[in-house]
Amino acid sequence: MRGVSERPYVVLSCAMSLDGYIDDASPNRLILSNEADFDRVDGQRALADAVLVGATTIRRDNPRLLVRSPDRQSARQERGLPVSPAKVTITASGDLDPHASFFTAGGAQVRKLVYCASPAVRAAQDRLSMAPATSIIDAGSPLDLVTVVTDLAARGIRRLMVEGGQNIHTQFLAAGLADELQLVIAPFLVGDPGAPRFVGAATFPWDSGHRMTLGEARRIDDVVLLRYLLSARALGEQQVAGQLAGG
Ligand SMILES: NC(=O)c1ccc[n+]([C@@H]2O[C@H](COP(=O)([O-])OP(=O)(O)OC[C@H]3O[C@@H](n4cnc5c(N)ncnc54)[C@H](OP(=O)(O)O)[C@@H]3O)[C@@H](O)[C@H]2O)c1
Repeated sequence: MRGVSERPYVVLSCAMSLDGYIDDASPNRLILSNEADFDRVDGQRALADAVLVGATTIRRDNPRLLVRSPDRQSARQERGLPVSPAKVTITASGDLDPHASFFTAGGAQVRKLVYCASPAVRAAQDRLSMAPATSIIDAGSPLDLVTVVTDLAARGIRRLMVEGGQNIHTQFLAAGLADELQLVIAPFLVGDPGAPRFVGAATFPWDSGHRMTLGEARRIDDVVLLRYLLSARALGEQQVAGQLAGG
């Protein structure tokens, strides 16, 4: 693990149904958002230095986590950045398939960082030895999210986009490690208690007496984007953006 530095600006990104589900209980991935919003998410990815998902999301959804737009890829390259942000995951079991798109999509051009609980590090190193541009990082036992984000900052990650799933979003919010929440509401209901929700049970810093600050509510075709500002940093950025817009 590297030395201490400030943690990255953390953006949580999630799409959920009107009743708060982020998937259904079927084996197929549930499409919650629409093309226009997928494009917005692509734009957010292009702004990030790294994108993080939980190990279950890799096993279940097999996401590629790349910037799709050629224009955004070129713009990143012009800024001296790789075409897509680094990919990051967290695992206690180390049970990850080197053939998953997380490891293969983007090949050696895209850095992959696997934060692994100490007992599973050796097995993960063996399993992922052929995965391109992949580092397995011993993140302690039990693995601590503060350690993860601090290490990411030390590796030059200044903006981290966290794309789920439930377990990961719950921990980032409960630990007060998120600066911004970008929550998209899809216009339908899932209604299946066996399906995962946006967050699980936890003690969060926000309750009826401590309300989040809504930074933006935007209609995107048939979905709504709610952008909540969760930290002093996020509120400061919004103020600066407002002042610039106001001249
Ligand atoms: N709608 C959306 O925007 C969206 C986005 C992403 C995902 N999803 C959905 O979310 C669901 C998956 O969510 P999930 O809650 O089951 O899983 P998850 O959050 O994707 O991943 C949980 C896994 O991450 C690892 N992990 C998390 N915190 C850890 C810690 N502190 N220490 C060590 N390992 C840790 C563990 O992996 P190991 O098991 O390997 O130890 C754990 O089982 C899927 O249905 C997916 O479709 C929806």
